[in-house]
Amino acid sequence: MKGIILAGGLGTRLFPCTKVTNKHLLPVFNKPMIYYPLLTMVNAGLKDIMIVTGGNYAGDFLRILGNGREFGLKDISYTYQEGEGGIADALRLAENFAEGEKIFVMLGDNIVEDDISEDIKKFEKQKEGAGIFLKEVPDPERFGVAEIKNGKVLNIEEKPKKPKSNYAVCGLYLYDNRVFDIIRELKPSGRGELEITDVNNVYIRKNIMTYSMINGWWTDAGTFESLLKASNLVAGKEGFCF
Ligand code: DAU
Repeated sequence: MKGIILAGGLGTRLFPCTKVTNKHLLPVFNKPMIYYPLLTMVNAGLKDIMIVTGGNYAGDFLRILGNGREFGLKDISYTYQEGEGGIADALRLAENFAEGEKIFVMLGDNIVEDDISEDIKKFEKQKEGAGIFLKEVPDPERFGVAEIKNGKVLNIEEKPKKPKSNYAVCGLYLYDNRVFDIIRELKPSGRGELEITDVNNVYIRKNIMTYSMINGWWTDAGTFESLLKASNLVAGKEGFCF
């Protein structure tokens, strides 16, 4: 299985900090944000990893991550997303890299406490389809929200005003290779983006979507509030308390 970290976009919600570098290189406690999804992948045993980046400071990734030796990788692959066409638009760029294999995709601003190796192993054995990760949150309207019944995901709504559950869809996704065909058929959403939620709903309609619950903490770090929260969660895990 190959790993793909999506770290494009302009990070406008973190202006003025993102005027001088890419959002995913800002510090979350004692490491740049991008280290966390990268470490999640490395700890799950993935060796072949691509970072999709974008914006004006893509070169900064090379300066920080280089060829990935520090993480025990032989190298890291990079590609560049022009504009901010959405998460599925960024993923589309990894099709050649995926070479027909299953993929584990993580958003570059998502940080998860759990080791997800077992979920990845389980998905390796799943014949086809996709897998998502869910976490109960107090503010589901900020996320994709999953409706669950009898152990099945019935539907996902992107940032609903009236969420049907408290289960946020985390920015960690497992896909078989048909994901790229699904993206080719997508139409931009109301906000002009190719939405990952639309991709996931296609898998749900085909009845080939599975899910896992995240047990430990999970957060994104794309707003000032969530960036601070992420730093505090990481600091707490490392034994600091303020
Ligand atoms: O954090 C989990 C949530 O992430 C999910 O619950 C939502 O369903 C999903 O749509 C997404 O929501 P956000 O609105 O928080 O996504 P955002 O636009 O902040 O993008 C998250 C990451 O995706 C960002 O750090 C980099 C990557 N991205 C995003 C866009 C729009 C790209 O690589 N390219 C893009 O064009």
